[in-house]
Amino acid sequence: MALERTFFIIKPDAVAAGNTGNILAHIEKDGFKIVALHRTTLTRAQAEGFYAVHSHRPFFGELCDFMTRGPVVIGSLEKDDAVASWRKLMGATDPAKADEGTMRKLFGTNVGENATHGSDSLENAQIELSFFFAGWDCKPKA
Ligand code: RTP
Ligand code: MG
Repeated sequence: MALERTFFIIKPDAVAAGNTGNILAHIEKDGFKIVALHRTTLTRAQAEGFYAVHSHRPFFGELCDFMTRGPVVIGSLEKDDAVASWRKLMGATDPAKADEGTMRKLFGTNVGENATHGSDSLENAQIELSFFFAGWDCKPKA
């Protein structure tokens, strides 16, 4: 196992519902160190750039509308195998299919409004961290 840093977003649905603190508590209880944290509202350009990989999908417009409709909390989590570990704690994309106790099961509403984002690979974590925290050293500190 290697110490990693991943990128996460608490999405507008979860922030609006007052679940920021609940989600951060689960994150710390699961052994992650929160190494960056920032509350912001994404611009359309940020949402479209961040989710550019989905630009040809039918839900892209809806996804960007959702991600820009209110504040989000973005940050970085450090732990052994942080990328896979955070994806596991988040649960499946569709909250209805997510395991009990996961963030999306507990705090998500539907496949579009699913409370949290997590990078899907270490390479993408570094790209996503650089996208939002330009110039920040995203390498874990032993
Ligand atoms: P994320 O990137 O946000 O962590 O989610 P993910 O890897 O689990 O899922 P992905 O396939 O990357 O989809 C990105 C986000 O797009 C929205 N979505 N809507 N309406 C739909 O069928 C649909 N499918 C995906 C969700 O907000 C999803 O998290
Ligand atoms: Mg994804």
